[in-house]
Amino acid sequence: MVCILGNVLGLDNGLGLTPPMGWMHWQRFRCVIDCENYPDECISETLFRSMADRMVEDGYLDAGYEYVMIDDCWASKKRNGNGRLEADPQRFPSGIKNLSDYIHGKGLKFGIYGDYGTYTCAGYPGSKDHLQIDADTFAEWGVDYLKLDGCHIDYRNIEIGYIEMQKYLNKTGRPIMFSCSWPDYQEEQGVKANYSALQETCNLWRNWKDIEDEWASVTGIVDWFAENQDRLAPFAGPGHWNDPDMLIIGDYGLSYEQSKAQMAIWAIMAAPLIMSVDLRTIEPKFRDILLNKDVIAVNQDRLGIQGRFVIRKERIDIWTKPVLPKEENTNSYAIALMSRRVDGYSYRLNFTLSQLGIKSPDGFILKDLYHPNIPLKEIDDEEHIVVRIKPSGGEILLATAKPSSASVTVEGV
Ligand SMILES: *[C@@H]1O[C@H](CO)[C@@H](O)[C@H](O)[C@H]1NC(C)=O
Ligand SMILES: *[C@@H]1O[C@H](CO)[C@@H](O)[C@H](O)[C@H]1NC(C)=O
Ligand SMILES: *[C@@H]1O[C@H](CO)[C@@H](O)[C@H](O)[C@H]1NC(C)=O
Repeated sequence: MVCILGNVLGLDNGLGLTPPMGWMHWQRFRCVIDCENYPDECISETLFRSMADRMVEDGYLDAGYEYVMIDDCWASKKRNGNGRLEADPQRFPSGIKNLSDYIHGKGLKFGIYGDYGTYTCAGYPGSKDHLQIDADTFAEWGVDYLKLDGCHIDYRNIEIGYIEMQKYLNKTGRPIMFSCSWPDYQEEQGVKANYSALQETCNLWRNWKDIEDEWASVTGIVDWFAENQDRLAPFAGPGHWNDPDMLIIGDYGLSYEQSKAQMAIWAIMAAPLIMSVDLRTIEPKFRDILLNKDVIAVNQDRLGIQGRFVIRKERIDIWTKPVLPKEENTNSYAIALMSRRVDGYSYRLNFTLSQLGIKSPDGFILKDLYHPNIPLKEIDDEEHIVVRIKPSGGEILLATAKPSSASVTVEGV
């Protein structure tokens, strides 16, 4: 059951039918390359092997996080004699294919980073004039996911290279999830990206600024997606997704409540769930947010509809996302709340489903996804829902549509 909103054309590599989930190093480990002084943090095969171990042993793979991905700073500063990219020999002495085999051996998938320009953002070799050979190299290494960045290239012609790269990726015969950064470079210059071209070329695309390790960065990204949702949301769907960037849950910048908010909004936006945290040391309460099965299920809902910002009520933003099951009179809905309040107590927000534009004569069953001890409740669309929400916190509810009593009677006959 797939709901197609508008455009039916899209990249057809069979991947990303629900938003991709995985782990990527950038937002926690950046470009640390000094393995002598920082052996546990540097970008090296050891780091990715240990993250792959944690992904499997600590339940992330079971929860759906399947890609282990290298970001920038993995390569040698020069291409080899055959014009091919190579890993830094000190930090990846066994080579990328060996690491890829290790990751696949754990039942995980493997992702890598490149840049369409002359250099990557951190100054490693870019793929300009080497697109085909790089696509072939990645396929030979067993790459399952490519993030292609857009530093050091003119943003006005940037889409040409991505479209060309997709052609070469396809020619390798290996299905490779393609994450494009081209809209980010255009939108930040005030140019509106061509989202139908993106949908035909990429499985996901970074629309806007890189996330940083702070709440202001999360709210800035959320605000931009809300302001631009009419232009962006119709292009999200199975196989192609808007990407507001990595989850920073468990890092330095977000409180527990703010982390719940990021997870709730990313779930509602049908955003890729790409963790970037040290899985060896993450505190259990943050791990529990990342592993919350009900919230992940909202994100991974097979309708693949990007949820929308609906209203700001008493400085609390409310977003909704249609999800399965779909009944005769309505979809079910996930409802996320993100508070901008800073008054130090659990604020009581009061609203009805009909105020959010959600109506059905048959009613709903309401579940509080972060508080499984709160009993399920039958409600109708005019009934007052009260949610207590802490300063700059996030909550998420699921209103499951009840089948219409008429159809229940018919089935019961
Ligand atoms: C290549 O593109 C064709 C046409 O869209 C598609 O059917 C095929 O699955 C693609 N192959 C890969 C490996 O992505
Ligand atoms: C990867 O390299 C390690 C040594 O660095 C070796 O022990 C191992 O057998 C290699 N694995 C594969 C799959 O080639
Ligand atoms: C956007 O891309 C589509 C599909 O590739 C193309 O048909 C269309 O002309 C492009 N629009 C603009 C304004 O360039």
